[in-house]
Amino acid sequence: MKKMQQMYEGKAKKVYATDDPNLVIVDYKDDATAFNGEKKGTISGKGLINNRVTNHLMQMLETHGIPTHFVEELSERETLVKRVAIIPLEVIVRNTAAGSFSKRFGVEEGRKLSSPTLEFCLKDDALGDPMINDYHILALDIATREELDRISSYTFQINRVLTDYFKQRGIDLIDFKIEFGKTPDGTIVLADEISPDTCRFWDSTTHEKLDKDRFRRDLGGEQEAYQEILRRVIG
Ligand code: TMP
Repeated sequence: MKKMQQMYEGKAKKVYATDDPNLVIVDYKDDATAFNGEKKGTISGKGLINNRVTNHLMQMLETHGIPTHFVEELSERETLVKRVAIIPLEVIVRNTAAGSFSKRFGVEEGRKLSSPTLEFCLKDDALGDPMINDYHILALDIATREELDRISSYTFQINRVLTDYFKQRGIDLIDFKIEFGKTPDGTIVLADEISPDTCRFWDSTTHEKLDKDRFRRDLGGEQEAYQEILRRVIG
């Protein structure tokens, strides 16, 4: 597999073409941003941790019947994945109130929700990733009804699997954001990453935050928190 020209650089990853038109390489950076890129920094070792944690979780999800873009881990920071067209939606599940949900609805952080919630945001930095509903998504041809139903059912299944998985490792999965892509034949697969950048992880006993909120909120100890997640996920 030959790594070829860079196709794209995002806030946390770069994507490279390969000599196979159906495969690309993702390369995870240590760069960290928050508030739509307004706050910038680095978390040393983050790229390696997010690469390994994402790959571990995606392979685990595959065993539970969730199709993903994962193909092969190539190095500490690089992974071969299927080339997909990303559906421009941030798909967010919440089990416990936190972050923008708490702010929007005036609910204290840490209140367990009576049922898991599903939210969509339009992936558009220029617009600040606005919230979007099913009707908007259909009206703007972002996804079809069938695709949206499939995304929603995969997402709740992913939530059940991940919640159990993390519970066994002493971590409460508060909320998370995932993204889906479409392969050339129209198959919907889980793409992007699942990491402390994209999930809220609270220690089940101490309730300590073990995720990117340490960076967003200037709490310190982000490197140690990411290391701790790697240790508990991979063991
Ligand atoms: P929020 O409470 O800020 O809306 O975040 C909900 C979840 O989504 C949380 O686990 C962090 C994750 N997230 C991202 O992965 N990317 C983002 O740009 C934002 C705003 C949140």
